[in-house]
Amino acid sequence: MRSTFLKWAGGKRRILKKIDTHIPKEINTYFEPFLGGGSMFFYIKQKYVPKKCVLSDINKDLIDSFKAVRDNPKKLISSLKYFKKKDSKEFFYNTRKKFNENKIFGVRRAAAFIYLNKTCFNGLWRVNSAGEFNVPYGKYKNPEIFNAENIFYASYLLKEVKILHQDYRKIIKIVKKGDLVYLDPCYDPLKKTSFANYTPKRFSELDRIELAKFIRFLNYKGVKIILNNNDIPPIRKLYSKFNIQEIFVSRSINSDPLGRGKIKELIITN
Ligand SMILES: C[S@@+](CC[C@H](N)C(=O)[O-])C[C@H]1O[C@@H](n2cnc3c(N)ncnc32)[C@H](O)[C@@H]1O
Repeated sequence: MRSTFLKWAGGKRRILKKIDTHIPKEINTYFEPFLGGGSMFFYIKQKYVPKKCVLSDINKDLIDSFKAVRDNPKKLISSLKYFKKKDSKEFFYNTRKKFNENKIFGVRRAAAFIYLNKTCFNGLWRVNSAGEFNVPYGKYKNPEIFNAENIFYASYLLKEVKILHQDYRKIIKIVKKGDLVYLDPCYDPLKKTSFANYTPKRFSELDRIELAKFIRFLNYKGVKIILNNNDIPPIRKLYSKFNIQEIFVSRSINSDPLGRGKIKELIITN
């Protein structure tokens, strides 16, 4: 089974099998409104073949990279070849600067996004308050920047898929009874300095409460939900009426020492 073309912090690749037991056999429309690397989408699309899929995220460059894979895989690969050939510490910082100054556009920008994601420290996509990507070079000996076959296959899997740059709440207008919504929001940091700022706006306590309200509404509409989160008392309290399963996950991508090694996470379902 093929997986994502990105290396996304908080990626779900390692726990797909554990989440699998909660996936209904018949899915009308599959929604993934906190897309990230989209490893759950690639898994579900290959194993369950949902009738329709709607993928979305608030990170515009991430969404544009998915669109480039879907619509322009050949051009994207030829651009990625250039980035791979040029890869060095100096080239990374140069590309990062041009990227932040919006001097790279279109499919080439999507290639730059994938290049930066694959060569930066731990696949983090962290931005400062001005929205500038600020993760340092990862110093990998031989980073796998792309795999052409994987990109073509991802492109095939993404055909006919709706890919939207939007806040997760926007799906409320189109989601219906019998659909599946898989939600993997940015976790609450285990301590305040954790890296959870994927976008200029952090996921605050208020966001957590808003998300719980949104999920209760989906539940009321008869939508099947699967939510991943970390195991902290406020999360358990917010979802006390849902089914809660504990799982142990090894996390290597985490700048927070409390979050490294095996940590407990939750799979919350209705
Ligand atoms: C933990 S990551 C998802 C990881 C993904 N499941 C994977 O396997 O790679 C969370 C994602 O939520 C996105 N995000 C954060 N706030 C959001 C919001 N309000 N609406 C939509 N997406 C949001 C971030 O840009 C990030 O890509």
